[in-house]
Amino acid sequence: MIAIYPGSFDPITLGHLDIIQRGGKLFERVIVVVLPNPNKQPLFPIPKRVAQIRECTSHLTNIEVDSFSGLTVEYAKLKRAGVLLRGLRVLSDFEGELQMAHTNKMLWDGMETVFLATSNEYSFLSSSVVKEIAMFGGSVELFVPENVAVDIYAYINKYFKK
Ligand code: PNS
Repeated sequence: MIAIYPGSFDPITLGHLDIIQRGGKLFERVIVVVLPNPNKQPLFPIPKRVAQIRECTSHLTNIEVDSFSGLTVEYAKLKRAGVLLRGLRVLSDFEGELQMAHTNKMLWDGMETVFLATSNEYSFLSSSVVKEIAMFGGSVELFVPENVAVDIYAYINKYFKK
């Protein structure tokens, strides 16, 4: 069974990585697919996010990384994926995630959404929190893979420091 793990991953966090690693144990192949989220203003361009995810998942054999601009279900059809994987951190995630799962199911009945509970230690973590910490000069190493922390600091140095 092929699973896709769609998201904006701007940037990938250790919480996302946790879902990728655990998803990889459940499914034959997991394709992490970076999609634009029209409701969010991006920090990193999509090819950069793909490169970041590829680097920090390179040790995992059944994980692929890709990008797509279009509906998630159209990508899933292309890849013949039967499962859409998403992480649930806290109760407040549930409403939006359930809405997305139902919408995707209406758009294409050939795929099931499977939720994994994010590991406790990352239940507070989001890409937005990471960006906010970095913008105010905080350290992000505890929250993102090492290569991503390097990119975040480079971005901050380029655009925010004189
Ligand atoms: O990491 P995010 O931002 O919560 O991911 C949201 C994402 C990218 C999975 C969602 O916005 C999405 O599926 N975008 C593609 C467009 C689409 O298929 N929309 C219909 C599903 S609601």
